[in-house]
Amino acid sequence: MQKNMTLGVGILGAGTMGTLHAEILSEDPRVELVAVTDIQQEARDRFAGRFHVQPFRNLESMMERGIEILYITTPNTTHTKPTLEALRNNIHVFCEKPFATSLQEAKQIVEAASASQSVYQGGHNRRFAPAYRFLKDRIDQGFTPYLATIKMNDGDLKDPPWLSDRTKTGGFLYETTIHLLDTALWLMGDAIEVTALAKDNLYPDLVDWAILIGFRNGGMATLTSSGHASWHTPTERVEIIGDHAILVCEGTDSVSHSPGLGQPVEILSFHQLPRKQRWGYIQENDAFIRAVRGELPSAFSVVEGFKIIQLIEACYQSVKTGRTIRLE
Ligand SMILES: NC(=O)c1ccc[n+]([C@@H]2O[C@H](COP(=O)([O-])OP(=O)(O)OC[C@H]3O[C@@H](n4cnc5c(N)ncnc54)[C@H](O)[C@@H]3O)[C@@H](O)[C@H]2O)c1
Repeated sequence: MQKNMTLGVGILGAGTMGTLHAEILSEDPRVELVAVTDIQQEARDRFAGRFHVQPFRNLESMMERGIEILYITTPNTTHTKPTLEALRNNIHVFCEKPFATSLQEAKQIVEAASASQSVYQGGHNRRFAPAYRFLKDRIDQGFTPYLATIKMNDGDLKDPPWLSDRTKTGGFLYETTIHLLDTALWLMGDAIEVTALAKDNLYPDLVDWAILIGFRNGGMATLTSSGHASWHTPTERVEIIGDHAILVCEGTDSVSHSPGLGQPVEILSFHQLPRKQRWGYIQENDAFIRAVRGELPSAFSVVEGFKIIQLIEACYQSVKTGRTIRLE
């Protein structure tokens, strides 16, 4: 790819996340927002007016117009079909989480991405948020993660209304907890076993979870997640215990690192960073565009995407069977 080539971007899904990515991309000279499609005419026309792009009735007509990059920002269970279509047409794909909402879909995406010339990146923004990167950097620098305590809560599942509809989300783990399940794998390594309890308290879905994960390297984690915790912060928290050492991350706001007995504790706060930077959205878009331009390897492999889906499915299977599930 020529370095000075401007890449045409089409957005599928003109809601909250489609708009957030478009705000970031519209300030990036390496790309040009050119098209949008959404099942709601009003949503696509409003988006088209705001970002000066052409609205299309569906993905097929938007692809016929010619785009180099597709952003998929529709509800979860609608991600796989456009991902496959784009990859088969060698269009680069940025798809919001989840990667897929079943193992079968996840396998199809792995196969399509392997056969495609294009780059795929999933919207796992925590990997790019400075607070979570701090944890990753310390682990890469030698901190051994023995035991993690992780939580990820939502205040409610009311806005947008599809958040409590399993047919749209694929289930609560696919909608909310996926962020911290991905983070657990990223920080602790491959999972080998999982045991989970879950209840459908207050919503027509399993929205309260207590999960135990065993990792290949011997590490262990407990992860709790609720869909009705109120928006009291931090809504997410990670604590990783090392060799007489600890790493703590309070959402995307602050981190601390106690490197050893009798040593000073390193404390950092990111709360003054602009939101899109604090949550890693700007950085994830930058990494994706750089991968598309061939400047960096892809920051998120489809194999990693597959492993997240495998872990989520194992959690559901554990609840269904009442057993510990071993991962292949
Ligand atoms: N990474 C994050 O921090 C984060 C945060 C929120 C949401 N998300 C993810 O982003 C995605 C979108 O969430 P949102 O909050 O923007 O939702 P939203 O409801 O605000 O927007 C979704 C848009 O997609 C449109 N749509 C629905 N089905 C469609 C279809 N089949 N074809 C075309 N358009 C369709 C809707 O009309 C709507 O405009 C979801 O997958 C969600 O899990 C990620």
